[in-house]
Amino acid sequence: MLPLPSSLWDPTRPNTSPSDMKNPSSGLSAILLFLFFFSASSAEQNVRTERISGSAGDVLEDNPVGKLKVYVYELPSKYNKKLLQKDPRCLTHMFAAEIFMHRFLLSSPVRTRNPDEADWFYTPIYPTCDLTPTGLPLPFKSPRMMRSAIQLISSNWPYWNRTEGADHFFVVPHDFGACFHYQEEKAIERGILPLLQRATLVQTFGQRNHVCLDEGSITIPPFAPPQKMQAHLIPPDIPRSIFVYFRGLFYDVNNDPEGGYYARGARAAVWENFKNNPLFDISTDHPTTYYEDMQRSIFCLCPLGWAPWSPRLVEAVVFGCIPVIIADDIVLPFADAIPWEEIGVFVAEKDVPELDTILTSIPTEVILRKQRLLANPSMKQAMLFPQPAQPGDAFHQILNGLARKLPHDKGIYLKAGEKALNWTAGPTGDLKPW
Ligand SMILES: *[C@@H]1O[C@H](CO)[C@@H](O)[C@H](O)[C@H]1NC(C)=O
Ligand SMILES: *[C@@H]1O[C@H](CO)[C@@H](O)[C@H](O)[C@H]1NC(C)=O
Repeated sequence: MLPLPSSLWDPTRPNTSPSDMKNPSSGLSAILLFLFFFSASSAEQNVRTERISGSAGDVLEDNPVGKLKVYVYELPSKYNKKLLQKDPRCLTHMFAAEIFMHRFLLSSPVRTRNPDEADWFYTPIYPTCDLTPTGLPLPFKSPRMMRSAIQLISSNWPYWNRTEGADHFFVVPHDFGACFHYQEEKAIERGILPLLQRATLVQTFGQRNHVCLDEGSITIPPFAPPQKMQAHLIPPDIPRSIFVYFRGLFYDVNNDPEGGYYARGARAAVWENFKNNPLFDISTDHPTTYYEDMQRSIFCLCPLGWAPWSPRLVEAVVFGCIPVIIADDIVLPFADAIPWEEIGVFVAEKDVPELDTILTSIPTEVILRKQRLLANPSMKQAMLFPQPAQPGDAFHQILNGLARKLPHDKGIYLKAGEKALNWTAGPTGDLKPW
């Protein structure tokens, strides 16, 4: 059978196995209550950081307005609005950032209508808005669509040819970004679309030393519906009585029948080691109280699936549940602005069998500090694409990322007649008209 894109079953979707809820013993509840109410001084940690600056534990404060000007190309609606009209589900799936970013830029104060004064050029195209009848976004047509759009902007405006894309950015939120395939092997084989090799890519996919992540790309959170999450908020004083929470697949028997390839075995290891551990509330069952449960949990597991990222990262931050990130080499969203190393716990994939010991030996004051940092509204804001946009939200973080790349290196401008890109490189199927 055709493997389904990871994005669809991996994250928070329902599954069919029986519920596996576990209630911690009353003794444990007492400890958890204690953890929740006890207040202690901050503990410092020595963890590697990719951050630029900002006070310890806070989101890097930056206002992009006045720091960059973005020109939005006007494209025929077949590259964007028509696709959305055909399938409005594109507005709610986890790749919807490509649509909301377009809408945001149209009315953003950083937009300029004069391309001669622009620092960045944006091509509004929705390459992941091509859904199967059951709602799975397929990236197969994306390369041809991209090529068609780039052909159009490069023949109608002089700006593409000036740099062959080096001052252009594209939002490519699919599983493996501009590699445009949902299976990792195939994505790696394809590599980043040749025509996008000089452009800045704004993408959810982030893994160090991976062909689908260019240096200079901006890693963003997947789209999670802000109103829906808001609607499930519970009073903040309800104690966190679940120690470790996870809902999702442990195995993907359809696409990985022999096991070990899906999640590189890390999810299987979680299940095999902790399915009977009372501290672990883990199951494939997706309860209607999923969002509420995260707000009642201390740790939320965020293991890799087919790709290293999943919406759980966003959900954990929004619901104040300490994300336990199990995805070696992951590049986290806005890692230069968000203190992930201080709000989260990082567990190497090979250490999953020790997860219980690792988590139970984290000192209470460290847990409390992480919870306090997570409670900061600007931490949550940075993970969301709200309508309308709000200061410090994910849109603004993207702009901050683009602004921090300015000024452009003079070397990006090509000499007259100089060509850097190869228009005929890549699989022949990608060269067909769109
Ligand atoms: C950009 O270069 C291509 C050839 O590489 C050419 O066909 C196109 O007309 C050029 N665009 C402009 C606006 O001159
Ligand atoms: C462009 O790519 C094609 C296909 O890979 C290759 O045959 C051709 O030699 C390349 N052209 C240049 C100028 O590198």
